[in-house]
Amino acid sequence: MGTDRKPETIGKFRKRVFSGVQPSGGLTLGNYLGAVKRFVQMQNDNYETIYCVVDLHAITVWQDPSVLRQNTRELAAFFIASGLDPEKSILFNQSAVSEHAQLGWIFNCVARMGWMQRMTQFKDKAGKNAQNASLGLFAYPALMAADILAYHATHVPVGDDQKQHLELTRDIAIKFNHDYEVDFFPVTEPVIGGPAARVMSLRDGTKKMSKSDPSDLSRINMTDSSDVISNKIRKAKTDPQALPSEPEGLKDRAEAENLVSIYAALGDESVDEVLSEIGGKQFSEFKPMLVERATEVLSPISSEMERIMRDLPELDKVLNNGANKAKSIAKPILQKTFDIIGVR
Ligand code: TYM
Repeated sequence: MGTDRKPETIGKFRKRVFSGVQPSGGLTLGNYLGAVKRFVQMQNDNYETIYCVVDLHAITVWQDPSVLRQNTRELAAFFIASGLDPEKSILFNQSAVSEHAQLGWIFNCVARMGWMQRMTQFKDKAGKNAQNASLGLFAYPALMAADILAYHATHVPVGDDQKQHLELTRDIAIKFNHDYEVDFFPVTEPVIGGPAARVMSLRDGTKKMSKSDPSDLSRINMTDSSDVISNKIRKAKTDPQALPSEPEGLKDRAEAENLVSIYAALGDESVDEVLSEIGGKQFSEFKPMLVERATEVLSPISSEMERIMRDLPELDKVLNNGANKAKSIAKPILQKTFDIIGVR
């Protein structure tokens, strides 16, 4: 949001970054490396940045109200502890800005059933009992499109698992613009990439690291102590070969590739750079290096989170200020949307 540079534009739209994370508990290293660390980079690259705790998305599956309240603040604390600065980025809760839900409804009327039925994340989350999933879980991506487009955001940093949802966001913007013969919503660019676009389970390199995996050993949680991190990395699945010095040597070695990618992302290096440094080492030598790097990065974040959580009134103030700033952008965009569709 720097004032020292002229804002860049994409077509007629000002370059603006939006992203969100669900406060459904259990923040993992995947959330950090795939998303929040990159939110911080974009903030520091002087983009206009808006980051949201998407509590209305979290309730698409049942949440205990008091736990949800706690998780919402914990996620906001995680944002700040990771380096998001409320002076530079807008940080807020989704439910505090009613424009999200209002625009979400309009997008429910733009998106097609067939589009939603193709969403793999719905299929995964609803599981075998899709008839019993909430309607909100099915409509989830339309609300996500509203989150983004309520700000005319042009860039959305996310992990690889959100790619299909962002394609749907683009489809919604294109269909809205076409149906109402306007050039009103931008066609958003996903920002996915780097070594940690898909951080995998420590127990199975073919599965995404996820808070819902039954084994806690499969993931590193942002609140894990150094001892726990060290234990999980020591127990992480590997193969018997030494580490290669070229990326081709990681082919068909999912677990090795994952650990090297995590090491690279934690140190802001590329996989190539890491391999030229560690090629030829055994895992017995590499794992302690990974433990050291992981605890060096993660311990200050978890202790800062604890510090922030000790002053909840201050945290709530930050979020309220953020919500006011967010509303001042989203409100005129929603008003104009109402105008376009003829409801006001
Ligand atoms: P959520 O809450 O599941 O995850 C938040 C972010 O973390 C990324 N992520 C990962 N990245 C790499 N490797 C992993 N193992 C990993 N696990 C999680 C996710 O890709 C995501 O970027 N639908 C979104 C939240 C959302 C949103 C939005 C995002 C709602 N509205 C608008 C962007 C813009 C979600 O469920 O993320």
